Amino acid sequence: MQIGELVAFLLYATLLATPVAGSIALLGSIQRGMGAFQRVAEALRLEVEGDGLPPGHSDRADTPEGSDRDRAATVEIRGVTFSYEPSRRVLDDVNFTVHSGDQVALVGRSGSGKSTLLALIERFYEPDNGMIVIDGTEASRLHLSAHRRRIAFVEQGAPIMHGTVRENLTYARPHATEEQIEHAVELAGFTDVLDRLDGGLEAQVGEHGQSLSGGERQRLAIARALLTEPELLLLDEPTSNLDPLSEAAISQTLRKLRGRCTVIVAAHRYSTIRDVDKVVVISDGRVEAMGTHAELTTSSSYYRELARDTVAASA
Ligand SMILES: Nc1ncnc2c1ncn2[C@@H]1O[C@H](COP(=O)(O)OP(=O)(O)O)[C@@H](O)[C@H]1O
Ligand SMILES: [Mg+2]
Repeated sequence: MQIGELVAFLLYATLLATPVAGSIALLGSIQRGMGAFQRVAEALRLEVEGDGLPPGHSDRADTPEGSDRDRAATVEIRGVTFSYEPSRRVLDDVNFTVHSGDQVALVGRSGSGKSTLLALIERFYEPDNGMIVIDGTEASRLHLSAHRRRIAFVEQGAPIMHGTVRENLTYARPHATEEQIEHAVELAGFTDVLDRLDGGLEAQVGEHGQSLSGGERQRLAIARALLTEPELLLLDEPTSNLDPLSEAAISQTLRKLRGRCTVIVAAHRYSTIRDVDKVVVISDGRVEAMGTHAELTTSSSYYRELARDTVAASA
């Protein structure tokens, strides 16, 4: 090859490299785009939840319109039976009452049905038998949105999304004032975390809130729940796998909430159970015993055994 040809070849090869690399990168983005599109399409195909009213039943005046924000709900669980699959009962004739402003802990081994009971109260499912009565009205007679407006639910694992702290806090109440935000943050014991974060409310929390610790995510989720000023707060194992500092912060939050809103908490830490008004012990979907921690410790051998295996171990 002549030197001239070689130079020309190298020149053309270099010129060609850029568009080829570009096309390959483009293929990559098309692939990613298709993936994302499929996920969006999946979400769009999901069945839309109805209003939750029985057929032929129109929304009635018992919808708590603009209900008084300071109220705490009374919750009655009456003979609730439920199964996900017909062959296996997950809850069997569960009965108990939570008075307005009280705090009740659900304790029981993993798989006993605590999360399921919380899901039924939130009405992600309807009971097969029995009913959930809130302030004297059967929950299933209320519009789902009216029912859920009164309740805040902090799920196990407290999902936090990509975005700022403020976005994560306010998505259930987008028009919250700065004062309301500050108050919720304070109640949830998140103030010191906020002070530490670079940018405060505008700090980015990262994908799934990964720039926060588990306990900080949990407290942020609780602040978000409290910002809606619920009449009933449902917490699913808020202190599992938490550092002692976060655990103490959550115990303190529960103390501050006393009397303000009704709380039902699936719990297994002594720090949570110690102070509640009533502990409901669930075993295989049935209520095994009920009472305060002190009462149960003397009266229920099942509770003592459970406490030895789970509660005491983590206290
Ligand atoms: N979506 C579901 N579909 C089928 N079975 C489920 C579902 N969720 C929970 N279960 C079953 O219901 C039982 C109670 O679960 P759960 O309420 O999560 O218990 P807990 O919160 O006390 O650990 C378990 O046996 C579990 O396997
Ligand atoms: Mg659970």
